[in-house]
Amino acid sequence: MTFPFADVSAASLTDLLSLSGRRAVITGGAQGLGRAIAERLAEAGASIAIADLDAGRADAAATAIADLHAVAAVGVAMDVADSASVAEATDRVVGVLGGVDIWVNNAGVFPSAPVLEMSDEQWDHVFAVNTRGVRNGAREAARRMTDGGVVVNVVSTAGFRGIAPGLSAYVGSKHAVRGMTKQMALEFAPRGIRVLGVAPSYVPTEGNMAAAAAAMEKMAAAGTDLSSMPAAMSYSLIGRVGTPDDIARVVLFCASDLSLVMTGSTLLADAGETI
Ligand SMILES: NC(=O)c1ccc[n+]([C@@H]2O[C@H](COP(=O)([O-])OP(=O)(O)OC[C@H]3O[C@@H](n4cnc5c(N)ncnc54)[C@H](O)[C@@H]3O)[C@@H](O)[C@H]2O)c1
Repeated sequence: MTFPFADVSAASLTDLLSLSGRRAVITGGAQGLGRAIAERLAEAGASIAIADLDAGRADAAATAIADLHAVAAVGVAMDVADSASVAEATDRVVGVLGGVDIWVNNAGVFPSAPVLEMSDEQWDHVFAVNTRGVRNGAREAARRMTDGGVVVNVVSTAGFRGIAPGLSAYVGSKHAVRGMTKQMALEFAPRGIRVLGVAPSYVPTEGNMAAAAAAMEKMAAAGTDLSSMPAAMSYSLIGRVGTPDDIARVVLFCASDLSLVMTGSTLLADAGETI
């Protein structure tokens, strides 16, 4: 079998980093890490589709990115947990942008509930979005990546270790995505598609800060000692926590030909949290 990956050793750095002519879908791209990822991929020249539950914010983000980087950008409504929604939205993206070359599975949820209290519905919701959502996205992308491509899964250091009380479903779902990244790399390589994971540690975002505040409030009400929690969440060897753009630049590396020899691995983007 021939594996369709070019040797780009003679290419210039500028060409290796350029995403000009490529079409990128970022799920959950209306805010937070996804928005920052979309901005860097657009700056590198990719056409952009922001796919999000919130169609209004997806449209607004796409318009802002198109204006800033002079690339084609479209917002689409997508529920990554729903196979039909992902297939329909992807068809719409292909209709507007002409194809898909890069797919970033970024949409994710992180509700907090201790093992002893979490309902089946809460558990299933986390896995539907964070795990089935990644399968749905990768599948629809691979079906349409006729000339090869790259799938980047936004994992978490929660895919490597336990993080904080209340996050068992989240930690389980992210460990699963790290495994799926390996398996999908194996299955997609013959189609010229690389699959990589990027695992951030704590990065303040709209969703993340709201979830942390809600979890702290619930635990404080239950009498849990919270004194060590913020330090545990924001441990860093570089003197600060990460920013959304710190993560976006690692995703850009994965999406570009700079990383062409890599597939199946998950890169820790964690300020040294997990060493
Ligand atoms: N922020 C962090 O500290 C951090 C750390 C590690 C990993 N991550 C991962 O990064 C990703 C993004 O996190 P964030 O902090 O930017 O979150 P966020 O809540 O700020 O943004 C998430 C976006 O995803 C969208 N979304 C949620 N459910 C969706 C669904 N079913 N279908 C489509 N879109 C959906 C939301 O509308 C929102 O726009 C997640 O996968 C998260 O697990 C975040």
